[in-house]
Amino acid sequence: MSAKREMRVGIVGAGVMAEAMIAGLLADRAVTPNALIASHPRRERRDALAQRYAIRVVAGNPEAARDAEIVVLAVKPQMIGRVMRDLGPGLRPDQVVLSIVAGATIGALSSGLAHPAIVRAMPNTPAQIRRGITVWTASPACTARQRELARAVLRALGEERQVDDEEFVAMATALSGTGPTYLFAVMEALIDAGVHLGFPRELAHDLVVATLIGSAEYAARSELHPAQLRNLVTSPGGTSAAAIYELEKGRIRTVLSDAVWAAYRRTLELGARLEAGTRPGERGEPGAGQNQPTDADRVG
Ligand SMILES: NC(=O)c1ccc[n+]([C@@H]2O[C@H](COP(=O)([O-])OP(=O)(O)OC[C@H]3O[C@@H](n4cnc5c(N)ncnc54)[C@H](OP(=O)(O)O)[C@@H]3O)[C@@H](O)[C@H]2O)c1
Repeated sequence: MSAKREMRVGIVGAGVMAEAMIAGLLADRAVTPNALIASHPRRERRDALAQRYAIRVVAGNPEAARDAEIVVLAVKPQMIGRVMRDLGPGLRPDQVVLSIVAGATIGALSSGLAHPAIVRAMPNTPAQIRRGITVWTASPACTARQRELARAVLRALGEERQVDDEEFVAMATALSGTGPTYLFAVMEALIDAGVHLGFPRELAHDLVVATLIGSAEYAARSELHPAQLRNLVTSPGGTSAAAIYELEKGRIRTVLSDAVWAAYRRTLELGARLEAGTRPGERGEPGAGQNQPTDADRVG
């Protein structure tokens, strides 16, 4: 048995991202079903996951974490305070905690859990089809083995990039974590434009989606910068030149940049709010409104 096969994973908050992780880990045979345990507060969700993946799904978060070498936190940001209070006292020094919670800093997590070995990661929603990209960083207390475990778990979601500077994880929350939102909005606008031209909606949808997939894969395989690829298809006086004129007049670059900066600022706000809630003496109930989801809590 390889080191990967031997790992024991506990997943807290078995929602959408957690399920993608469970499916990927089992498909990779990175874990066997009996080495994977998840927790969820609702019985019907527990039963559904247990039936679908033949794994153990329990109601209590501490139970999911107890025998795990790596404990994954996949709850929504507004739940993390409560979950940290649940888990912190039971964690052992040999365990590593991997959080995918948007905005949750290593500082907030290690202080909220009173635990030094933390991995902070930011995946994105194409993880549902194992085409996600995750940016992650590990606290200095993480051992080489713990980093290897984190990498193996994150690979279940697609590609991963480890960074040394935690700031890049916060920035990735705005760029790649929130990135699908920008592209879905572009997709939606182009489909609507196609319908406006007179296409049936389904055909407009297929044309736009295939164009986005094809363009992305072409750009990924090409060594050219996107600006060069765009120049290659922009003939003098042609359709692309006419279209680009309108895109620039509508400030497309500035609007996209403003959107990324807004998401980044919101990431920092979420982190600051969590850090404030985990300072010594402030580990009681979350601050006003902290249990209420906001749009910015919905990353991906
Ligand atoms: N979705 C993305 O594309 C994406 C991308 C990057 C990062 N993230 C981060 O990943 C995390 C999970 O996102 P998600 O989209 O998977 O959310 P999700 O589907 O809502 O998953 C969270 C799950 O946790 C459950 N839960 C609620 N309270 C709990 C508790 N006290 N203990 C244990 N579980 C509890 C929820 O149950 P209920 O269903 O009953 O509420 C839900 O099933 C978030 O922090 C988000 O910021 C998500």
